[in-house]
Amino acid sequence: PAPGWSISADVVVVGSGVAGLTAALRCEAAGLRTVVVTKARLDDGSTRWAQGGIAAALGEGDTPEQHLDDTLVAGAGLCDVEAVRILVTEGPGAVRRLMETGAHFDESAEGGLELTREGGHHRRRIAHAGGDATGAEISRALVEAVNEVMPSGTRARALRTIENALVLDLLTDAEGRTAGVTLHVMGEGQHDGVGAVHAPAVVLATGGMGQVFSATTNPSVSTGDGVALALRAGAEVSDLEFVQFHPTVLFLGPDAEGQQPLVSEAVRGEGAHLVDADGVRFMVGQHELAELAPRDIVAKGIMRRMQEQGAEHMYLDARHFGADMWEHRFPTILAACRAHGIDPVTEPVPVAPAAHYASGGVRTDAHGRTTVPGLYACGEVACTGVHGANRLASNSLLEGLVYAERIAHDIAVAHRREALHARVPQPVPQPDHPALPLLAPEARFTIQRTMTQGAGVLRSAASLARAAEQLQHLHAEAKDALTENGKTAEPGVDTWETTNLLCVARVLVAAARQREETRGCHWREDHADRDDETWRRHIVVRLNPDRS
Ligand code: SIN
Repeated sequence: PAPGWSISADVVVVGSGVAGLTAALRCEAAGLRTVVVTKARLDDGSTRWAQGGIAAALGEGDTPEQHLDDTLVAGAGLCDVEAVRILVTEGPGAVRRLMETGAHFDESAEGGLELTREGGHHRRRIAHAGGDATGAEISRALVEAVNEVMPSGTRARALRTIENALVLDLLTDAEGRTAGVTLHVMGEGQHDGVGAVHAPAVVLATGGMGQVFSATTNPSVSTGDGVALALRAGAEVSDLEFVQFHPTVLFLGPDAEGQQPLVSEAVRGEGAHLVDADGVRFMVGQHELAELAPRDIVAKGIMRRMQEQGAEHMYLDARHFGADMWEHRFPTILAACRAHGIDPVTEPVPVAPAAHYASGGVRTDAHGRTTVPGLYACGEVACTGVHGANRLASNSLLEGLVYAERIAHDIAVAHRREALHARVPQPVPQPDHPALPLLAPEARFTIQRTMTQGAGVLRSAASLARAAEQLQHLHAEAKDALTENGKTAEPGVDTWETTNLLCVARVLVAAARQREETRGCHWREDHADRDDETWRRHIVVRLNPDRS
């Protein structure tokens, strides 16, 4: 639909997690007129749900070089070493700046940061807040900082937010440069319905796509909107086959759907054991780090044992922590378990892997620039190259921070040099949105089941082919316009989301079919080994202009 209203800015940030709000605050501080657009409320993204913490070489004796080594091992040969070097060297400073913004991390008795361990880390280097509520604290601090610069005052006009707004598509000018976004706003009064924000720079910080699977740790807003938008805009997307399945998600039954409670790796970092139904610690002997092996190895270990025993889940046993430690160190997880009738103080916690993190995404360079001029990406939506085939635990909040700062710097410099084109860019008339046909919202569950069955933790040529075929059927059912009672129905947010889910699911499955090896979190039953000769490379996707 044609936009019914428009505003202009120097930069539009899409998304309000750690990456989006950091980028927005830094852009505003650089004097850029910044608009944050977010699909629900400012604190509704994935950041708020992060438990374990944020990794950085902040501890005595730790160094960025050691953090780099652990990140490269987890990434299974596909990390971009320079991107990782940036992450680990700029990381400690970025965490300190986050603390200056107002985030409080837990402190040790000596007064320094209390650091924990997680899978794949050879050192204690994970800072945490409120025990296991790190993301909630980061989100609180950033939202407060945004609210502080928004209301009355001299900087009031430099940063504004639009909530309940789903971004639809990128606007471009006659030279193919970014000219803003179209968006669908719901119930915000002044700017309602489909509108546009015109700006020469757009930062995608829309988070992940966990909702493409039936069970995920991601909130309901994580529907791959940023990747779908970037694909439609002709940007390159890379490494989508590398979906990370978190090994220890509270098991609530085989048919549990939607967001599931996470049981942080930090619980294992503090000494919890993974055991099978007979109480045997099955990770011991599989890897030198046992339960603290990189995440893909632990997820595979759990799946293998489940297959061997015909079990639906394994157990995480941390009864030896005692009530005090559970209450003080892991209050969020304790409450979530108890809410489901499980008491970790007295019984082992049933856990199984569930979709957690997209290691791939919209391909960027070291400044967060995508392949479309003026379009940037940071956080989970981006593929900066730091995660390779499997993200190291707690590197995601750090990546969001570090690369958001770099993007804000790049935009500010480009702005000063006037390298970003006209202050008010002139978008050329765009085709109406559904060059990619729309899918009815009911298809969401079919997509999720198809993906879980065909492209979940364990994949094979046959399972992926079945998934591709089912997704192709859905694609064929999609229409340029949906009807209701015989009349054309205006697409709502659930329609756009379902359309985006199908778009990313198809690309993900295509990439997973192509990669005929097992590497990192891409586990092919029919290609059990890593094949460095053929596959030490990335699968990069760019849609044809007809968006096929
Ligand atoms: C966790 O707390 O286990 C999640 C950390 C992460 O995904 O990096």
